[in-house]
Amino acid sequence: MKEFILFIHIVFASLWIGGMLFMAIVLSPYVKKLPLSTKIFQEVGKRYSIVGTVIGLPVLFITGALNAVNITGIDFFSLMKSNLGYAIILKEKLFFFLLTVILAVFHDFYLGPRANLSKKIKFITRIVGVINLIIGLIIIFLAVKLRFGGE
Ligand code: HEM
Repeated sequence: MKEFILFIHIVFASLWIGGMLFMAIVLSPYVKKLPLSTKIFQEVGKRYSIVGTVIGLPVLFITGALNAVNITGIDFFSLMKSNLGYAIILKEKLFFFLLTVILAVFHDFYLGPRANLSKKIKFITRIVGVINLIIGLIIIFLAVKLRFGGE
C-alpha cells in the first residue's frame, strides 16, 4: 500500500510540474504568436486547473502526509512538532506547498479569467504562473532532500 501511495504522489507531482513546464516551454512560445492567444490560454488553463489545481493539489497533500507517516513511522502531528532534519525539510516543503496553493487559486480563478481585460492583468497572470513553476521546482528539490534523509 505505501508503494501505491508514493506512486500516486509521484504521478500527480509529474502532472503538476509537467503541465507547467509544458505550458512554459512548449505551448506558450507557439500560442503567443496566434491572434486568439489569450482565449487559447484561458481554455487550456481551465482544463489544466481542474486536474492540476482542484484535484491534483489536494491529492498531493493527502498522499504526501501519508508518505511522511509511512516513511518515518511517526504520526503527522508529531512530525509537525518535531525538530528532526526530515521534519524540518517536510515543514519547508509544506510552506512552499501552501504558497503554491494560494498562487494557483489566485492565478486560475481570479487572474486567468480576467486576462483578456487588460495587458496589465495578462502580464501579472503570466508572472504568477512563472513564479508558481519556480516554487514547484523548489518543492521537487525539497522532495529530493527528503529522499536523502532531510539533512
Ligand atoms: C506541488 C506539490 C508537491 C510536489 C510537486 C511533490 C513532489 C514529490 C516528488 C517528486 C516526490 C518523490 C521523491 C522521493 O521519493 O524522494 C515526493 C515525495 C514525497 N513527498 Fe511530495 N510533493 C508535493 C507535495 C507534498 C506535500 C504537500 C507533502 C506533505 C504533506 C509531501 C510529502 C512528501 C513525502 C513525505 C515524500 C517522500 C520523501 C522521501 O522519500 O522520504 N509532498 N514529492
